[in-house]
Amino acid sequence: MKLRFSVFLAALFSVACLTTSTLLEAHSQDEAMAERIPVALVTGSTRGLGEEVARRLGAKGYHVVVHGRNVERGEAVVCAIVEAGGQAEFRRADFLSLDQVRELANGVLTDFEHLDLLVNNAGIGSDEDGKLVSEEGYEPVFQVNYLAHFLLTEKLMPLLVNSVPARIVNVSSGAQAAIDFDDVMLENWQPDGRQIGRPYAQSKLAQILHTYDLAERLEGTGVIVNTLHPATFMDTYMVRQAGIEPRATVDEGADRVMQLITDDVGSGNYFVDGKPTRAHEQAYDEAARQRLRELSLELIGHND
Ligand SMILES: NC(=O)c1ccc[n+]([C@@H]2O[C@H](COP(=O)([O-])OP(=O)(O)OC[C@H]3O[C@@H](n4cnc5c(N)ncnc54)[C@H](OP(=O)(O)O)[C@@H]3O)[C@@H](O)[C@H]2O)c1
Repeated sequence: MKLRFSVFLAALFSVACLTTSTLLEAHSQDEAMAERIPVALVTGSTRGLGEEVARRLGAKGYHVVVHGRNVERGEAVVCAIVEAGGQAEFRRADFLSLDQVRELANGVLTDFEHLDLLVNNAGIGSDEDGKLVSEEGYEPVFQVNYLAHFLLTEKLMPLLVNSVPARIVNVSSGAQAAIDFDDVMLENWQPDGRQIGRPYAQSKLAQILHTYDLAERLEGTGVIVNTLHPATFMDTYMVRQAGIEPRATVDEGADRVMQLITDDVGSGNYFVDGKPTRAHEQAYDEAARQRLRELSLELIGHND
């Protein structure tokens, strides 16, 4: 009963969050685990959109695996979910290291008998000071936003398939730029004023290509996968740090993500404003999708 052990740990953790008068509640959560409680992993749920989605999933009765780099923020989100009567635990992994992504995936595979929902949400808008490089030497925005999630999804796929009906939601963006397969790591790219967002836009289109590719591979398995632009310039760290005046709330974006978790939305679609929408033309180029898949497998190492 791997899940029961995990919930025992969550109950222990909840001691730190809850007063003793509510401890009994934590025990009753443990009892409740005799039933099949749905499990959700939300990457990048220590703040912003991911945090709000994690809180809503906790309120809906999921056991939420909160993920991010910042332990303090992660534990605060877990406490908020537990104090609201839900179940959650925090797992740390820096997606600038593919080894840390593997550790996260292996931990989930070891500790849970099923995984009902994977929300690939963690992201960075830019290489903040232009000095970051991933542990593997890859372009950092491509790695955090796309490649780490490609690896995580590949590793968790057998568990998702064994947990059907299961869902994957890839949080992409309306900002999309064609992947230049001759320079994916943007080594020869010279940013100018207009193209400053190219690393982000390339990584976000890669997520959409991955979604379409996955939907084909998963057809008939009972795992559905969709992607979306959640909202334009939500009031989050990413937007504020870019010096952009927020135009939307995190709630608006979370409503859109929840739609892909709860509604009958089919599989293999890109949603904007809650409706299936056409993405950048490269997403419909089968050769480009195959090339990205082969390149991604090579970048993560074929053993994965
Ligand atoms: N904000 C918008 O208007 C907007 C629009 C379209 C799409 N999106 C997409 O929505 C998603 C969430 O964005 P947001 O606006 O909520 O951003 P945010 O508030 O900046 O949150 C980003 C999350 O990603 C995590 N993260 C960042 N770098 C990481 C790394 N190296 N390894 C692991 N986790 C990392 C952060 O964890 P720590 O806090 O622990 O570092 C945090 O939980 C992103 O995929 C973004 O592209 C946002």
